[in-house]
Amino acid sequence: MTGRIIVKKDLGGENYLIEVTTPQIASRFKAGQFVIIRMDEKGERIPLTVADYDSGKGTITLIFQAVGKSTRQLATLNVGDTILDCVGPLGKPSEIGEFGRIICLGGGTGIACIYPLIKALVNAKNEVISIIGARTASLLLLEDEISALSLRTCVATDDGSKGHHGFVTEVLMNLLDEYKNSDGVQRVVAIGPPVMMKAVAGITRPHHIKTIVSLNSIMLDGTGMCGSCRVFIDGEMKLTCIDGPEFDAHKVNFEDLISRLEMFKEKESEALKHYLNIKGVSKCSR
Ligand code: FAD
Ligand code: FES
Repeated sequence: MTGRIIVKKDLGGENYLIEVTTPQIASRFKAGQFVIIRMDEKGERIPLTVADYDSGKGTITLIFQAVGKSTRQLATLNVGDTILDCVGPLGKPSEIGEFGRIICLGGGTGIACIYPLIKALVNAKNEVISIIGARTASLLLLEDEISALSLRTCVATDDGSKGHHGFVTEVLMNLLDEYKNSDGVQRVVAIGPPVMMKAVAGITRPHHIKTIVSLNSIMLDGTGMCGSCRVFIDGEMKLTCIDGPEFDAHKVNFEDLISRLEMFKEKESEALKHYLNIKGVSKCSR
């Protein structure tokens, strides 16, 4: 279905928020699901997590980072513009239950993706501790919104401009240590760059803490037909778009995921250069 943009915000650091009118998606959305959008007939399909929704207004909120051709093109759209195709909600909803104490980690744009999960887990009466991290303070997304929901929110920045100077994984290790004598941590959920999710899995595995990650594999159709989003879970091939995007982190073959994402880098770079040439932008930042 077509979606009309009714709100657009520049969140800084090439991050944008758009609120899009898509009543059919807004009325069926559950935390953990995503949409695949296409801006025009010639555009490629890109998957974006639904960061928030309002079923009364019939809108969904998408937060994205303009990293390549399609996301940069999306960033040029303004309030009143339409997105040609908006398909969803796709993927399996997150498993939401009363688990106890949960640590939710979001890295980079993964912070926007983990926000609806935090909301759903808090509503299900869990004690949610959030860790959010970015390269620098100005790139931290939804800090106020996440802090308002979470029992405790820890911030980490690579350059030390806010919170812990270093990675979210270091904060996770400290928290696991801190809570080990008070019933521990029952679950960890992490969304962010694959290297971050892989590191989280490595930290929680020896503690036997159930850990869930949301995988950002390359997707085309989003309906299980093309096979481009295949991942290996416990040695078995799964399709992220229909079997995921969330999986047990301790069973994910992260090496395969990371190398598949690398495979398309050259083509993506060419597409971006071509797009910037058409737009008359002389320098390519990649
Ligand atoms: P490109 O130059 O094509 O790619 C830039 C990088 O994005 C690549 O290095 C690659 O790792 C990744 N990528 C490229 N194409 C795809 C694709 N079709 N599917 C997945 N990853 C791709 N990004 C956000 O900013 N916000 C979100 O909420 C968000 N949610 C996502 C949810 C899911 C289920 C998945 C699979 C990905 C999500 N992404 C999200 C990543 C987003 O889809 C990519 O950033 C986008 O497709 C990049 O397209 P591009 O043409 O701008 O850049
Ligand atoms: Fe085509 Fe998943 S995106 S099978």
